[in-house]
Amino acid sequence: MTQESRVVLINGEYVDWNNAKLHVTTHALLYGTAVFEGIRAYASAEGGQLYVFRLKEHVTRLLNNTRVLKLKQPLTVDAFSEKIVELLEKNNFHTDVYIRPVVYFGEGAIGLKPLKQSTDYFVFAVELGNYFGEDKALKVGISSWVRPSNNSLPPSAKVNGSYVNSMLASMDARDAGYDEAILLTQNGYVSEGPGENLFIVKKGKLITPPVSADILEGITRDAVISMATEIGIDVVERDVARTELYTCDELFLCGTAAQISPVGSVDGRIIGDGKAGKITSKLAATFNEAVRGKDDNRRGWLTPVYR
Ligand SMILES: Cc1ncc(COP(=O)(O)O)c(C=O)c1O
Repeated sequence: MTQESRVVLINGEYVDWNNAKLHVTTHALLYGTAVFEGIRAYASAEGGQLYVFRLKEHVTRLLNNTRVLKLKQPLTVDAFSEKIVELLEKNNFHTDVYIRPVVYFGEGAIGLKPLKQSTDYFVFAVELGNYFGEDKALKVGISSWVRPSNNSLPPSAKVNGSYVNSMLASMDARDAGYDEAILLTQNGYVSEGPGENLFIVKKGKLITPPVSADILEGITRDAVISMATEIGIDVVERDVARTELYTCDELFLCGTAAQISPVGSVDGRIIGDGKAGKITSKLAATFNEAVRGKDDNRRGWLTPVYR
């Protein structure tokens, strides 16, 4: 199937890819007033099946976040989840895909105050392999752009408009020759990547910034904490100072798009031997088995698309 022959779900209706268009007065386009999710579905190890990773958790986060913007919840968690599965089935996807649901204020109002009745939603999916292009330890740089605080543009709410901050950091990092940026909080502590959470390894322990460091509370971050705990690695959530990024034993980014991506250097300082560290590699291998249905203990994370 070519991309053009695929369908997009808009307010409960399936629309051809080429006709999936919005009006110029769409409030979300004018002001960024939308919440969204990024969800992955993985082709099964044995082939023939597609597994959506932690679907209910993503849909629950999306619908909880509608409350921050006072958007209406268009569907229940179960109904929204079923629609996503149906969309994948209708498009007959059999390779790894990335799913993008968006709930937003729709067309009609030019003022900042959106029309009450204008809550709309859409979901589309595209094929997506490795987010960073190739399997190598990333070169990252600390951004001069600062993460907005929860009291200005809450990063925890996955509001579309706040991704301008992520885009600025990511774009400038790439223009400066890095693969990705790391953002600090207003207080100068480590926050996260533009679209990824972050973990460091120090003396065999995993350390990650807390929710109060203006992060998105990632679902992959939660999966990492759960896998690490099961392997017997201690996990600590605490503020991380910038220099700890330069001196730690291992560092990795994680997120739906990034999965578990080792970092080889920060601001030109080499981490470990500049390659994926032992704990990072172990977690990445465990994660890769789980998402493709090879780990029976983690089947609960997966929703099969084809019945
Ligand atoms: C800013 C930000 N942080 C972290 C993450 C990771 O969250 P998750 O693992 O739920 O995808 C994302 C999204 O992918 C993000 O946009």
